[in-house]
Amino acid sequence: MGEVDPVFIQDLEHRPKLTVIEAEGIPLIDLSLLNSADAISDGSLVSDIGDACKKWGFFQVINHGVALEKREKLEKAAREFFGQPLEERVKIRRAEVRVSGYSNAEHTKNVRDWKQVFDFTLQNPIRVPASTHPDEKQVVEWHNQWPEYPPQLREACEEYAEEVEKLCFKLLELIALSLGLPADSFNGFFKDQTSYVRLNHYPPCPAPELALGLGRHKDGGALTVLAQDDVGGLEVKRKSDGEWIRVKPTPEAFIINVGDIFQVWSNERYESVEHRVMVNSEKERFSIPFFFNPAHYTIVKPLEKLTSEENPPRYRPYNWGNFFVTRKSGNFKKLDVENLQISHFRIPVSQPL
Ligand code: OGA
Ligand code: NI
Repeated sequence: MGEVDPVFIQDLEHRPKLTVIEAEGIPLIDLSLLNSADAISDGSLVSDIGDACKKWGFFQVINHGVALEKREKLEKAAREFFGQPLEERVKIRRAEVRVSGYSNAEHTKNVRDWKQVFDFTLQNPIRVPASTHPDEKQVVEWHNQWPEYPPQLREACEEYAEEVEKLCFKLLELIALSLGLPADSFNGFFKDQTSYVRLNHYPPCPAPELALGLGRHKDGGALTVLAQDDVGGLEVKRKSDGEWIRVKPTPEAFIINVGDIFQVWSNERYESVEHRVMVNSEKERFSIPFFFNPAHYTIVKPLEKLTSEENPPRYRPYNWGNFFVTRKSGNFKKLDVENLQISHFRIPVSQPL
């Protein structure tokens, strides 16, 4: 076993098993119907998506309409960027409490992740609250930072993001329909979206049984659309029994998961599911998640149409922007703000008198 800095070592109970369970995987959904005339009205596609969201919180999509060249162009540029010497990469190091630029010091639940990242937001700049305090009304702007090398990285990022954003809106409509709502029910929240894309590089790790590329977590936003390469390592916690299940790479597919915001909007009909990333001792791995997030001023709460007297709201309303900047700031200060979970806003079930 190689030497690994203790900051990367997971507590015993969270260490990965190196033997992978080859179980029934997350559902695979073919979106080719979306490009045909009666597209979205097709009931089976909508119900397949609804079933996947309920049972797994995760699914993969193929024939999704995102041009493969765009993805490949970005994968190539990412490889080139991360292949540079550290002194080049850190020139665009992410400033504290920001979302854009380079970082090799990501922590999840206070344990360091075995990876490096580059982040950029879709809209540039994005506007977010100046502080983590909900009463603070001041808003600041976060701007993207681009490296000099490789010169085509910026264009590759922007073109890719534009394509995947279209897919996000299609998924948003399908998910709305699957909840029995009009297709455009969620679109309005994404007018001034705070979405961002992350390039992840997981280098080979001498102790894959002790460390994780990314510790267990739930995504805080609305939806995540992830491109993973052919190495594999993503694991999803199966809802039925809590086992960690490996997501086998499917060429050209995207992995979709609903985040915390959908858990709240749907009043828990759909849950945000825990996942993590294993590393391996030989191969490096690249992945590209697109985090589809609403405007900073969005007040997240269960949709009225999805609650009733028998099914009262299970969450208090919260401000997305404050939640977002609190999570971002905690990662730097290594405070335990991963404890800022949506469970914090959960309304206790009232006791019978
Ligand atoms: C994430 C994530 C998975 C992966 O960045 O939130 O879950 O495979 N990434 O990199
Ligand atoms: Ni995630």
